[in-house]
Amino acid sequence: VEATIEAAKRLAAFTAIDTHFPKDAKVVGIGSGSTVIYCVERIVQKKAAGEIPADVVYIPTGFQSKELIINGGLQLGAVDGYPVIDVAFDGADEVDPALNCIKGGGACLFQEKLVAICAKKFVLVADFRKNSTALGTQWLQGVPIEVVPTAHAKVRQDLLAMGAKTVTLRLGGKAKAGPVITDNCNVIIDAHFGEIADPSTLAREIKLLVGVVDVGLFINMAAASYFGNEDGTV
Ligand code: A5P
Repeated sequence: VEATIEAAKRLAAFTAIDTHFPKDAKVVGIGSGSTVIYCVERIVQKKAAGEIPADVVYIPTGFQSKELIINGGLQLGAVDGYPVIDVAFDGADEVDPALNCIKGGGACLFQEKLVAICAKKFVLVADFRKNSTALGTQWLQGVPIEVVPTAHAKVRQDLLAMGAKTVTLRLGGKAKAGPVITDNCNVIIDAHFGEIADPSTLAREIKLLVGVVDVGLFINMAAASYFGNEDGTV
């Protein structure tokens, strides 16, 4: 099963890069998670083969993708220096038929959203488990929400009042006695709402809560989503 999932991620990532990496690209965004690793693998291959320009600047969405860019021998930039990005590639936790998605399983949602909104084109890469008919039905850990630490208790109350079924401060588990701290020094609340009937309204309501930095609902942002399937198709 693991091998099938990895093959599916790789296929989705390779297809997305082959289809959407512009021949004249100058600035490209790199998302976070286990699937974008294969995007970088493909970029490194194509760069070595002279199929993509050598002087592209790559913009990370967090610590992990920064390391991917550096270790791949690619040129590292930062979103505050390059607020106009040709295309950004990123994974997702759940994607609906309108290409709205839940992101933030890896706690990188804020920088992912920042890079995605700066990109002229935002492309998702994922395996078959992420392909969903309605958000909140596949990814059951809840919608990740990045919150300023001092506001976590108040925001949890707000989310329960808004109808969240469970509201959990994400903890470090065995690796840390305490909350997961994001790349921006904030905490993550995972709020499970069940099936989300109106993701756009929910995203706006959560974003308006005092203390919320951003919410892992990406509405009307993706131009395309590539899913690797179990049978080897994309
Ligand atoms: C990081 O915060 C997330 O948004 C990831 O992009 C998402 O969890 C996808 O990760 P995988 O590709 O590892 O499933």
